[in-house]
Amino acid sequence: MDRRKFLNNLSVAAAASIAGASTLSAKADALEDEMARQLEKRRGKPGLCYIDGRPERIPGDDRAGLMGTDPLLPRMPQKPTLTDFFNHRFGSASHLLQSAKLAMDSGEDEKIVLACLLHDISVYSLLRTDHGYWGAQLIAPYVDEEIRWAIEKHQALRFFPDKDFDYEYPEAYIEYFGADYKPEPYIVHEHKEAKKHKWYRTSRLITVNDLYSFEKGVEVAIEDFTDVIGRNFKQPKEGLGFDGSKTAHMWRTIIWPNNYL
Ligand SMILES: [Fe+2]
Ligand SMILES: [Fe+2]
Repeated sequence: MDRRKFLNNLSVAAAASIAGASTLSAKADALEDEMARQLEKRRGKPGLCYIDGRPERIPGDDRAGLMGTDPLLPRMPQKPTLTDFFNHRFGSASHLLQSAKLAMDSGEDEKIVLACLLHDISVYSLLRTDHGYWGAQLIAPYVDEEIRWAIEKHQALRFFPDKDFDYEYPEAYIEYFGADYKPEPYIVHEHKEAKKHKWYRTSRLITVNDLYSFEKGVEVAIEDFTDVIGRNFKQPKEGLGFDGSKTAHMWRTIIWPNNYL
């Protein structure tokens, strides 16, 4: 971690704890603890699922396990639509909205706009790890196969520059993962195979429109994409999570992320 950034971010309590340590070795330990804590904070957590149990207890509720509606989360309608998930479960989805807007403003067709809008939904709702695959699986029953494929493959493509599309390795990744980071062999393989595929362009355009730095002051709402969603996302009449599709359980998990079982 950059030393200057680290010192700037130091909380008063952490600085006091380091300064107050009586020996050099205790100071070093306090410093190391604080660096680990800050790194953990920067790394973030999966969208809504907490592997080690519920993050907070509800005051006055001493049940060991929560089931059903979580009073700490916004209430979902009985038949939730994709827009309801954006509004109540995807947290800050401005990255998705801004990426989709960029694609729309660039004149890309609706398939690309929807792919951009959905490309990272797993990051904001389910899992960060292998998020392209999880996101693609989640939406598979409701979108054109080309969109599903493109979202899955963006997982790999974003690590590889492509001059034909003016796509360069994201500078943000150097900061996130370090300058010496090398993608895993399965990612290298996926990229190589995807390059030969007829839908390569679709997936590549997700990475081209993938905004790594948010444009301040640009407000985009999910409602700006109502028509694109209406024409390209097969919203089940029973509501996402309740239509018996192969991925209904994944949508339910996002609705009730903290259920005990
Ligand atoms: Fe992504
Ligand atoms: Fe993204």
